[in-house]
Amino acid sequence: MKVGFVQMEIEILNVKKNVDNAIKLMEKSSAELIVLPELFNTGYNFRNLEEVFGVSEDIPEGYTTSRLMNFSKESKKTIVFGLAEKTEKGLFNSLAIVSKGKYIGKYRKIHLFYDEKDFFLPGDLGFMLYDIDGVKLGPMICFDWFFPESTRTLSLMGADILCHPANLVMPYCPEAMKTICLQNRVFVITSNRIGEERGLKFIGQSQITGPDGKIIFRASENKQEIYEVDIDPTKSRDKNLNAKNNIFNDRKPEFYKIV
Ligand code: ACM
Repeated sequence: MKVGFVQMEIEILNVKKNVDNAIKLMEKSSAELIVLPELFNTGYNFRNLEEVFGVSEDIPEGYTTSRLMNFSKESKKTIVFGLAEKTEKGLFNSLAIVSKGKYIGKYRKIHLFYDEKDFFLPGDLGFMLYDIDGVKLGPMICFDWFFPESTRTLSLMGADILCHPANLVMPYCPEAMKTICLQNRVFVITSNRIGEERGLKFIGQSQITGPDGKIIFRASENKQEIYEVDIDPTKSRDKNLNAKNNIFNDRKPEFYKIV
């Protein structure tokens, strides 16, 4: 399966320009599955709730999901992308998945980072998997990675590939992903943005990491990049570390009093 990411520049509040840019970049990719950054269409460093409200959209009826759904039909791709979601309850930092012209589903970021807490409600849908042609995608958004429970839950549910739209500002995620992938024997595709927005700098370094904990590819810190690679997603289903250790069967939940 050809999978990839788009690492891109994003202009705050310029939804049409950002969607156009993402589509232009994806047109150059032959990946079947592409992950875009968190809030890829709106930017991240909002000044107030009015700004976020003005660029939030319904999923799947809104402009961004509709455009990517159409693009996914022409290009026969599956696309995972982050956007601000408008609902009757309030706003969520969400992602949507579209595949070959169809809306597949969404996820709402559970672990909100810093100022996000002023604008968004914490995700209320829980973690879930989406099946695309027999491959199980496990979506999470940026800071969710910091909580081992997120990646563990998705992996225990049976995810083959964790799809991770991000707007990373701290330096830790790309290196930490090696351990997370090793401990769960799972693929992760992290798509980050680049550039600086109202004084906030994003670290780039989008990355695809394999179930052996090795980095398959890490992007630059500051350039727009598309990357694609052929992987066998079913490698994530082999939880045997060696002939005697299966990392899931060897768990001892009776001693994990963490809830
Ligand atoms: C983040 O969760 N965007 C840092």
